[in-house]
Amino acid sequence: MGQTDPGGRNYTGEYKNIFIFLIRPKTRPALLSEEERDEKGYHFTEKSLKVIEKARKGTLPTHDAAVRQAPAQYAAHNRPRDREDFTEEGCKLNIGFIGAGKAGMSLGKYFAVRQQDALQNERGSHAAAANADADSAASAAADSSINAAQTTVKGYYSRSSESARDAARFTNSNAYDTMPGILSECDMIFLTVPDGNIKAVWKELSGYNVTGKLICHCSGAMSSREAFAGIEETGAYGYSIHPLFAVSDKYEAYRELTDVFFTLEGSADAEDDPHLEEIKEWLESLGNPVGMIRPEDKTRYHCAAAVASNLVCGLVDFSMELLQMCGFSEENALTALRPILKGNMAHIASDGPEKSLTGPVERNDEETIQKHLQCLETAEDRQLYRLLSRRITELAQHRHPERDYTEIRRLLRKDGSK
Ligand SMILES: NC(=O)c1ccc[n+]([C@@H]2O[C@H](COP(=O)([O-])OP(=O)(O)OC[C@H]3O[C@@H](n4cnc5c(N)ncnc54)[C@H](OP(=O)(O)O)[C@@H]3O)[C@@H](O)[C@H]2O)c1
Repeated sequence: MGQTDPGGRNYTGEYKNIFIFLIRPKTRPALLSEEERDEKGYHFTEKSLKVIEKARKGTLPTHDAAVRQAPAQYAAHNRPRDREDFTEEGCKLNIGFIGAGKAGMSLGKYFAVRQQDALQNERGSHAAAANADADSAASAAADSSINAAQTTVKGYYSRSSESARDAARFTNSNAYDTMPGILSECDMIFLTVPDGNIKAVWKELSGYNVTGKLICHCSGAMSSREAFAGIEETGAYGYSIHPLFAVSDKYEAYRELTDVFFTLEGSADAEDDPHLEEIKEWLESLGNPVGMIRPEDKTRYHCAAAVASNLVCGLVDFSMELLQMCGFSEENALTALRPILKGNMAHIASDGPEKSLTGPVERNDEETIQKHLQCLETAEDRQLYRLLSRRITELAQHRHPERDYTEIRRLLRKDGSK
């Protein structure tokens, strides 16, 4: 199923893709010569090639011309637009999720809420913009790309129809019974299935016509090239969009996504990818910080996230165990640690680890460190204490270049014996 403009013309995902090309002042790859398109790997159907030919001859309205002919407020994107509004003056992106679990539900709800916020803002600014000069409105529209208001969460397909229906209810969207069903209605598909299932789901999905679709996964560890093998032959575009966040409650986490960092990476080389920048701008239009990452850095990036998130759980568990050895109940240990944990995390998050550092290493208190090492019962615990303390000694040295931490370093370099 394609998209239909107010004049009744039907646009497939690929046709839409051409418009995205046409309206992007920077690339406009549809206006490239056939050889240049081949070289960059843009593939179109016969029907689309006819449109491209018209565009090259100048008989297809360009984005700017179409905008100038349109009412000023329409051109300025100042009213909420329906899916049918996808015409030469702009585009609308329908988003679907395959995998109605924690990440899929949280992201879908978040995108839907942000779209509503953006539409409300647009309505609010409608009156002011109605007075704006048509030319400046047209030029603003010409420079715009996908924003929060232009995306619609269409719905979910999942392994179990029950999960898909639950997510659809939660996000006020649709539950699809089949992959082709969701594929036909969406331009951007998130494969929010467990990491181990992404490749298999892509393999199945790529058996259908995915031309022009934006296929995304949310794994922190995998690159899009690794996940979407052979995507360049399908006419689809692959991306990994990772929210640097741990979703524990699929109904509540969306509320906490407002300042989450999204890390983006694409399967094509950045300079050849017609959509990477647009996706970045869309994510930024949600109000979130966004960073690009190279495919080869994804595993290290995910390791960084695991250190900051999962390994901290291990450290807190280590601390609670020591408190329980002092007679605290498990519950009391957590109660006792709660304020120090929260305060420390807030401080680190705001000022970074170096400025937040306190304690015997930072104070150069050799005697206390010696006592700590003596109270730890296993070589493994002492090793853990030593390795982390060595790390923070370097932080302390950087903060206090005038101090001599030689003795602390010597103490921490010793092997695991008491
Ligand atoms: N959770 C997080 O904190 C978090 C954070 C950032 C990124 N991510 C990423 O998000 C992705 C999903 O993780 P998650 O935590 O949301 O997992 P999850 O809660 O286990 O949800 C996975 C969903 O995928 C569905 N599914 C599994 N295999 C499928 C298949 N073959 N076809 C269709 N649907 C299938 C499941 O189906 P049914 O329910 O229908 O059985 C489930 O609803 C992963 O790539 C993960 O790395 C997760």
